[in-house]
Amino acid sequence: MKSSRIPGFYKKTVEERKELLREALELSEEDLGVLSSNEALPIETADKMIENVVGTFPLPLGLGLNFLINGKDYVIPMAIEEPSVVASASHIAKIVRDAGGFKTEASERIMIGQIQVVGCSNYEQAKQILLKQKEALIDAANAAYPSIVARGGGARDLDVRILNDSPKSSYGKMLVLHLYIDTCDAMGANIINTMVESLAPTVEELTDGKVYLRILSNFADRCVAKATCVIPPELLVTGDFSGEEVRDGVVYAFEFADSDPYRAVTHNKGIMNGIDPVVIATGNDWRAVEAGAHAYASRFGSYRSMTKWSVDKEGNLVGELELPMSIGTVGGAIRVHPISQLAHKILQVDSASELAQVIVAVGLAQNLGALKALVTDGIQKGHMALHSRSVAIAAGATGEMIDIIAEQLVKEKEIRVGKAKELVEQYTK
Ligand code: MEV
Repeated sequence: MKSSRIPGFYKKTVEERKELLREALELSEEDLGVLSSNEALPIETADKMIENVVGTFPLPLGLGLNFLINGKDYVIPMAIEEPSVVASASHIAKIVRDAGGFKTEASERIMIGQIQVVGCSNYEQAKQILLKQKEALIDAANAAYPSIVARGGGARDLDVRILNDSPKSSYGKMLVLHLYIDTCDAMGANIINTMVESLAPTVEELTDGKVYLRILSNFADRCVAKATCVIPPELLVTGDFSGEEVRDGVVYAFEFADSDPYRAVTHNKGIMNGIDPVVIATGNDWRAVEAGAHAYASRFGSYRSMTKWSVDKEGNLVGELELPMSIGTVGGAIRVHPISQLAHKILQVDSASELAQVIVAVGLAQNLGALKALVTDGIQKGHMALHSRSVAIAAGATGEMIDIIAEQLVKEKEIRVGKAKELVEQYTK
């Protein structure tokens, strides 16, 4: 691309944008064809979702099976590009199912909006004035978004903190108002942002300060969901490894992650392998969930494991995962994206709280899937078998050839596109 400065790109039609792209990058019609070949998300819909649209970007959508959560069966849509993840989640869900299933619970769904105030002449006094006006401010916030109140939600409470009390920064103190909002079944970004923006002028007047930021916090620590599972060791037997060996390996793996950020990041990435695909498939904002989850993993002062694994008195493996879950079942991309609508039909959850609980159960299953593989055969064995199929496809294999080439790659322990190309050539000779 000679220049990324293309004035008026946003005003053009999708076809005109593609034509510009084709000329600038010397792409073929075939190259561009893939951009709008996804019938599931019509290009006209995509063009209304974000800006400067030239196409859509499909991901594989798999189904996580065997999930039994609080006695209810779930088939779980998962949108992800990485092999093994769906298989591993389903494998663990089967084990947990045989142990009675996941148990989950959720807090009330209170999201946080923040208002930052600077330049107050007396911060303590400003704080007290805001607290005194609490009821009036809550009423004003609710008046700014009456439809959420009509749905049974709305602003519930507020508090005020003074930051940089012993100033390290050159700018010094600031006051931060937290508005606590029940967003019902919505993730609530629009509700929260509308409310805090509407309060800003009043807050400025009351504090005699200047408001800068008015925005939701993705550290949704009042909107958390928790999943647990209890697994007898006999259900953990893997190849030559006894159930007790696997169980103890999982607990050691947890303790490793819980005391070493280098390991915790990878451990937690494995948890997000389960969480993000469900968040994406259900049309939710996975960056918000990611950011909240990692912050929650650091809430005790250092970055630690999101899950906890221990052994109970009976010798069972006990797993727990609690995370903020700022997701919704209404609003945002959910009603716009046809596949997310389908995902909700497949999942059959009745509320955002139920969806949040399903998501943490998948995260817990995914973590155990990774740890069980890591403490036994290692992850490459299962992973490579699946990866070899992508390599075979990348090398040009089609139809029945894909599995034949993939198996050969695994057998020869050379899972490379170069090697696969050689095999494709031999096969097609
Ligand atoms: C790979 O995507 C995820 C794992 O690295 C997670 C882990 O190490 O726990 C296998």
